Amino acid sequence: MKNVEDVVEWANNSIFDKTGEHLTPLQEAILTGVWYRQKYPQIAKDFHCSESHVKKEAAKLWEKLREELGEDLNKLNFRSKLEKKYRVSQASQLGHCLLQIDNINIGGQFIQTIEDTKIRSPNPPNSPQNNAISPIIDLTDAPELTSFYDRTSELSTLKQWILEAHTRLITVYGLSGIGKSAIALKLIEQTQTEFDYIIWRSLSHTPTLTTLQTELKQSFGRSQQTPLTTIIDYFRTSRCLVILDDVQNIFQSSQLAGRYLTGYEDYGKFFKQIATSSHQSCLILLSWEKPREITTLEAENRATRTLHLKGLGEEAAEILREKGLADEEKWSDLIALYQGHPSWLNIIAATIWELFDGSVSLFLADGNDLFLGDLEPILESHLERLSDSEKKVCYLLATQAEAVDISQQPADSELSKSEFLQAIQSLARRGLVEKVLVGLRSKFQINRVFQQYIQSQ
Ligand SMILES: Nc1ncnc2c1ncn2[C@@H]1O[C@H](COP(=O)(O)OP(=O)(O)OP(=O)(O)O)[C@@H](O)[C@H]1O
Ligand SMILES: [Mg+2]
Repeated sequence: MKNVEDVVEWANNSIFDKTGEHLTPLQEAILTGVWYRQKYPQIAKDFHCSESHVKKEAAKLWEKLREELGEDLNKLNFRSKLEKKYRVSQASQLGHCLLQIDNINIGGQFIQTIEDTKIRSPNPPNSPQNNAISPIIDLTDAPELTSFYDRTSELSTLKQWILEAHTRLITVYGLSGIGKSAIALKLIEQTQTEFDYIIWRSLSHTPTLTTLQTELKQSFGRSQQTPLTTIIDYFRTSRCLVILDDVQNIFQSSQLAGRYLTGYEDYGKFFKQIATSSHQSCLILLSWEKPREITTLEAENRATRTLHLKGLGEEAAEILREKGLADEEKWSDLIALYQGHPSWLNIIAATIWELFDGSVSLFLADGNDLFLGDLEPILESHLERLSDSEKKVCYLLATQAEAVDISQQPADSELSKSEFLQAIQSLARRGLVEKVLVGLRSKFQINRVFQQYIQSQ
């Protein structure tokens, strides 16, 4: 569903199929207006009729579409519900049959699809995949993609890295719930025709490298291609996109960021091999923390890139709209306070309903004080992974109202200069401390939500 004309046509067809009636011109205007987030008074004004007439007609319209889009359908959630229903097909703007793709359970099962090889990028002449009929897509391990807003610039960066710059190893790191898995799923939707294999594996059960490689080979083995000995062989002979999710699970807790668990160090070598050897595929790591060797590979320009995923911008308002919150004029304050973090906003929206019947104004009434509530266990799960030196630096930074100039180590720090700098570097690799430009100098500050949490302890 690419544009508003498609939406009107879809609604017209589905109502006609059930009732034999077509949409009225006013109903078309309502659908178009609501799609573009217009309010009823504006739609009434544009259509030169009364607001009550628009409301009455809209009520009839939502009633007729409830069977398709759910009993709780209304003007606020119409767009997101429709986008959700057609989310896979919407992203596949490369010419696939909409219904065929909509039938695929992207989050749940092994899927093997896409018959139209014509629209895929041509394989290099030595690739055995020239004869392949359909790519293998294994998303058994992937979570389900629910609502998804924006991330336009991040997605185009990732696509540029993968499809144009032929980056071999990408790390997307950021806080829990910031949307790493979501953006990777969206990326798959938008690039699936470019690959011979797309495989998603979660490291949440901390598989050894050998186990992971065996599982990957099982997925590769679903094709008719003669089985190959190593993963890198598949990476060379075909265009593969492999996503490893929850990578922080193979890193040690209570240590600086990105240190492998004992017995898992060979992952580091595997990642390095993917980055440095010649092939036509891409490995994406999704993690709370950046693996240690990535910085060196990046510095050497080894077809390696890192994306620090941060909150959504203004588009986070769509999450609040979807939740049906009131007081739209206060939404940007709420978004700024919770840093556009999609998961935090979802949780806080539930709190606002629980305590203030959906009123954002009442929730924010006591000034801009940060309420943490149900966010606390999530914040704790990040802090409990920190090393002792990182914890000390966090407590130190949490007392500072302004960003800190790290060339002058705070006097009350018990750490040596080297320990202090290492801890700052490590906290930044977890996205807990950020570099900000103050005047002409870069300074460091702790994430404000974590600052509040530490202060409240
Ligand atoms: N762009 C987005 N628009 C709307 N909702 C989003 C977006 N990105 C993520 N979300 C929502 O936020 C929640 C967390 O997203 P996701 O699971 O992708 O985070 P994550 O970074 O992978 O977290 P974790 O590290 O814990 O696995 C999900 O409910 C998801 O629907
Ligand atoms: Mg995830």
